[in-house]
Amino acid sequence: MTSRECAALALSVTCATALFTAAPASTAPATAAPVVAPLGGDQGQTRARDPYFPLSGNQGYDVQHYDLGLDFTPASHELAAEATITARAERRLARFTLDYSGPPIQRITVDGREAAYRREGQKLTVVPAEALRPGRDFTVQVRYGGRPEPINDPALGLYGWINTDDGAVTLNEPDGARTWYPVNDDLRDKATYTFRITTPTGVTALANGEPQGRPRAGNGRTTATWTMAKPMASYLAMVAIGNFDVTRTQVDGIPNITAYDPAIPGDDSFLHSATAAAEQWGVTKFGRYPFDSMGGVIDPSDAGYALETQSRPVYDSPPDESAVVHESAHQWFGDSVTPTSWQDIWLNEGFATYAEWLWQEEHGGPSAQETFDGLYATPAGDPFWQLKTGDPGRDEMFNYDVVYLRGAMTLQELRSTIGDDAFFRLLREWNERYRYGNVGTCDLIRLAEEISHRDLQPLFQAWLYTAAKPAR
Ligand code: ARG
Ligand code: ZN
Repeated sequence: MTSRECAALALSVTCATALFTAAPASTAPATAAPVVAPLGGDQGQTRARDPYFPLSGNQGYDVQHYDLGLDFTPASHELAAEATITARAERRLARFTLDYSGPPIQRITVDGREAAYRREGQKLTVVPAEALRPGRDFTVQVRYGGRPEPINDPALGLYGWINTDDGAVTLNEPDGARTWYPVNDDLRDKATYTFRITTPTGVTALANGEPQGRPRAGNGRTTATWTMAKPMASYLAMVAIGNFDVTRTQVDGIPNITAYDPAIPGDDSFLHSATAAAEQWGVTKFGRYPFDSMGGVIDPSDAGYALETQSRPVYDSPPDESAVVHESAHQWFGDSVTPTSWQDIWLNEGFATYAEWLWQEEHGGPSAQETFDGLYATPAGDPFWQLKTGDPGRDEMFNYDVVYLRGAMTLQELRSTIGDDAFFRLLREWNERYRYGNVGTCDLIRLAEEISHRDLQPLFQAWLYTAAKPAR
């Protein structure tokens, strides 16, 4: 499923201006002629690539569903996999590319017929026996196996498929999905997922969404099936395999499924209750919960961060309340409403961090304004103010000061400018209007202007697109 772009909408002058400074790359004409690139090139790229990850994605087709059969043995960290991708050709495709950096491929078929393929860097080019006609649904099946490895990026850290002592866990953000399955790694190409995870019996496997029946055992191996029935961006796809104590309850009719590695000492029930509380609170602030289950997984790894994997965040160590509130808020901000471009990562992290401030304000802590004031005291010459929150650059996309804290400050500044009424209406309307879709900062500016009847261009210009401390 591909959502329409921010740039494609009828924009107010203000929003178009903001768009221009914020995301010039997304203004590519939608009518560009298809380009035939040599084998290994990117086919059918007519819309903008992601400026931060220009190699990722392919817009010549639209993925509907990923069915991932993963047979994994923790003792050897060996994976034998079969990915079945259902997609629709957006134009004639004599060949197409996927993003894939995983273990060796054994075989690829397209609609059941053997297909030629070639790997080059992170791109996998597939040549079907017959060219795919525009508008046609097709199925790609990829068999592969070996020992998957994570990406260890000097700026972004450890991500993708991460092997653990007792299994593995996936933390894909931003472009790590390709370490363990062939994927159209484009933020705009959300899809539904089925995970069929086979392990030695006694090992537990979790993923996004809901389990389909009980795990099925035979011959010393067990298969657990999970489905994510709501559209999901590939950076949010998660499997966790290992030793887990699993707790399942219902919260207002929605399953809450959490998993805790019993090797961790201490309180194993906090994640479960904190997740339920954060979700219930989120509903009152952001509107209806977008997914069919919730939960979380605590799985120790070398990642050094938590990730808001859809419906079931992963924590690399037992989280505190703020961390659970943060990852839960991402279910609305990031997972359901997803940026079109990684440049707008502040739309994820600013809102999730602001949710922490709001939670504190309502649970006996400092007000969001007090938190803002404390940070605003940072001297103008401090590196805190050096980059642009609305365009931090690929290597600084997870910069805590620039993206998380200044992102949340931008929202507090917006709140104090338009008032609580308009601001809290905005939080709900943002989720209502763009549920399961993709957004750009211009969408936020336009909605905020629509709700408040104010020109907010100067505010966002100062707070997002200026590498300096904004005057107040
Ligand atoms: N989105 C995560 C969070 O704020 C952080 C992900 C960091 N990813 C990375 N590759 N360093 O909860
Ligand atoms: Zn976050």
